[in-house]
Amino acid sequence: MIKLANDLYYVGVKDPDLKTFDVIVPTETGTTYNAYLLRGEKTVLFETVHDDFADELLENIREICPAEDIDIIVCDHTEPDHSGALHKILDINPDVTVYGSAAALKNLSNILNRDFNKCVAKNNSELDIGGYTLKFIWAPNLHWPDSIFTFCKELGAVFTCDFLGCHYCGETVDEDISDTAGYDTELARYYKYIFGVFPAAVKNGLSLIRSLSPALVCTSHGPVLRRDIEKVCGCYDKWSEPVVQSGKISVFYVSCYGYTAAMAQALAEGARSAGCEVGVYEITAASDAEIDEALRTSAAYMFGSPTLNRDALPPVWSVLGSVSAVADRNKPALIFGSYGWSGEACANLAARAQGLGLKVDEELCRVCFKPSEEDLEKLRSKGSAFAAALLSQ
Ligand code: FEO
Repeated sequence: MIKLANDLYYVGVKDPDLKTFDVIVPTETGTTYNAYLLRGEKTVLFETVHDDFADELLENIREICPAEDIDIIVCDHTEPDHSGALHKILDINPDVTVYGSAAALKNLSNILNRDFNKCVAKNNSELDIGGYTLKFIWAPNLHWPDSIFTFCKELGAVFTCDFLGCHYCGETVDEDISDTAGYDTELARYYKYIFGVFPAAVKNGLSLIRSLSPALVCTSHGPVLRRDIEKVCGCYDKWSEPVVQSGKISVFYVSCYGYTAAMAQALAEGARSAGCEVGVYEITAASDAEIDEALRTSAAYMFGSPTLNRDALPPVWSVLGSVSAVADRNKPALIFGSYGWSGEACANLAARAQGLGLKVDEELCRVCFKPSEEDLEKLRSKGSAFAAALLSQ
């Protein structure tokens, strides 16, 4: 337990051994699950923690008051790293009322699978807890539809859950951490994985936060922010700038005998001739960072694979797996590949690309074995037409 301000206490927990969050996010220093207790005439708990740490949360709360004294729990966001321990508090204190957005309360019904006292935190509504006033502010898609911020006017403290947070577990939860470079690295990584696909929502969130001029930002992971609020907001500002370059096409392919490679080059030549900037990536020779950058900054894609055992090859699936069904939605895509027998790779890739929300060109560019000069010329024309359509959008 740490006292942050008058009547405001940090009751969160550390998880330094966590190596990966949500299966895919590396967490080299682990993380923290932050929760806060505010004692007005009513006692309010902001967020809970991951279920694995429920007992530690309860111990921290009990350093301040019995869990039975909690009147209100505010769930600013319901991902189970913040709502997982809620069931244990409800076991002890079934009279507590849970505040959250309508989406959050619906989520909690499906997480808790039990009845509980609930109240919708309407946008810009205020709750007087006796001595302190809480203002609820909707912040959808930061990073779930359920997300809200809660602002305590008297303390100038805003509870943002994941927003402006960081999977960083240091020696302290304040900003006086010794490994600032490590924190900066994790802050950037956290942004990329958690908020990178919601740049417009991030801009909106930054406007909301700045309009409050908070003295304290109580995040749900990593340090509580005081001195560095504007520094972190500035990073989010920079990272949420638009990155897609209109007229930029990236061609990703693999090739066993150079046939699909020749198709890639012909399509790229055609697209360049129409005026597009085209990057061509033999996937196994490109770094993850190069592919990631190309995916994020391109306005359209081409994916090429030979067929092996009735399917596309794994490196191409891997790149498609990095396409964001949110951020990259509606980008045009063209599928191509050489084949020997039945040639299922193109259709399979097209189905996956459509599933991700890409606008897949209806014409699959397939060539049996080695493309002839006539095939290559057709591919140049196809690449040119694809690029011209992109430029005319
Ligand atoms: Fe930290 Fe979206 O949960």
